[in-house]
Amino acid sequence: MSFAALRASARRVGSAAPLARASRTALRNPAFRKYSTEASQAPKKSSNAALFGALGVATVGGIAFWVYTSNSDSAKEAGSAVRSGVQSAKAATNFTPTKEDYQKVYNRIAEILDTASDKGYDDGSYGPILLRLAWHSSGTYDKETNTGGSNYATMRFDPEAKHGANNGLNIARDLLEPVKQEFPWISYGDLWTLGGVAAIQELGGPKVPWRPGRIDGFAAQCTPDGRLPDGALGADHIRNVFYRMGFNDQEIVALIGGHALGRCHRDRSGFDGPWTFSPTSVTNEFYRLLLNEKWVWKKWDGPKQLEDKSTHSLMMLPTDYALVQDKNFKKWVKAYADDEQLWFKDFAAAVAKLFELGVPQSQFVTSEPWIMKSSDEK
Ligand code: HEM
Repeated sequence: MSFAALRASARRVGSAAPLARASRTALRNPAFRKYSTEASQAPKKSSNAALFGALGVATVGGIAFWVYTSNSDSAKEAGSAVRSGVQSAKAATNFTPTKEDYQKVYNRIAEILDTASDKGYDDGSYGPILLRLAWHSSGTYDKETNTGGSNYATMRFDPEAKHGANNGLNIARDLLEPVKQEFPWISYGDLWTLGGVAAIQELGGPKVPWRPGRIDGFAAQCTPDGRLPDGALGADHIRNVFYRMGFNDQEIVALIGGHALGRCHRDRSGFDGPWTFSPTSVTNEFYRLLLNEKWVWKKWDGPKQLEDKSTHSLMMLPTDYALVQDKNFKKWVKAYADDEQLWFKDFAAAVAKLFELGVPQSQFVTSEPWIMKSSDEK
């Protein structure tokens, strides 16, 4: 058993045991839940010049054409940013990062994940919120218009940073900012998606194939609000949103298993609580609980959510519950509840696809995605 798997299983609390036996104290102390969204969501200055250079002025030219042909003020602003981007790119083409350089970034992120326990943050890992950042930066993709996705890291800018669905993600962006300062050649889109990969791999999940090539865009490229799913809705809404990104039912169910990690926060989404007793371990527990527990509507003054009848300490969003109400979704919930390895395989493939949404193939620096080493393999 690898170190990561050992650590993950050590984190599992009563995952196979009846809920009543699982210790509530294993969930993190409510006194730690102090985070608010008040921290500044102002966009950070990007110094992506080297990557622009490495990836070719042609792409930048494409953006420039797009912004020059738009009349809005923000497009004009972005136009001048493109001009200076091109100029700085010309001045800074002397560094072409290798796979080893990206591995160093991965390693730094892996170190940061565990600092959460010293800071008393949530359940002791920043992994869940980094995965949410990577997913929200990618899940805005619209296949019809080929807009959104992870390419331009537009959540750095106010229109998108302030979308309700992104509440609290300033914590994850701020956490990765020192990594960006240390490795200024990496684009934000690459950094954020690599953060999602590190979160999954370091918390005992499968290897997620990943490759770099995203470039930083401009505020003018922010996606309209409303592209990310609303947890209060049902199966039709889930399909509308994920079909728009190009996923099928099996991939949708595999992806939402990301709720194996982390929790909802009242001051971010309004919902409250974790999905499993092991919110810092990637396991198929989410599916097993969804199928086997009795879920009842929580009686409270917050938004409609479900809680497990036996301990009242776990939660499901209406969208999670829709996965067992819908026949075709339920088929996959059963398959993943029965076979964790099957879910690992499908989750890794679906996440790899998610993180590449909106990135033109020509931008990737390699045709074959890489497998980054986990910290126990170094
Ligand atoms: C129907 C689709 C989805 C809906 C409606 C949804 C909704 C939500 C909501 C409301 C939260 C709580 C945010 C907070 O209060 O902090 C959350 C957290 C989270 N979501 Fe999702 N989500 C969906 C799909 C996904 C997918 C596809 C992934 C990853 C592959 C994912 C990963 C996470 C993680 C890791 C957290 C925990 C964050 C933390 O602990 O800070 N979600 N999601």
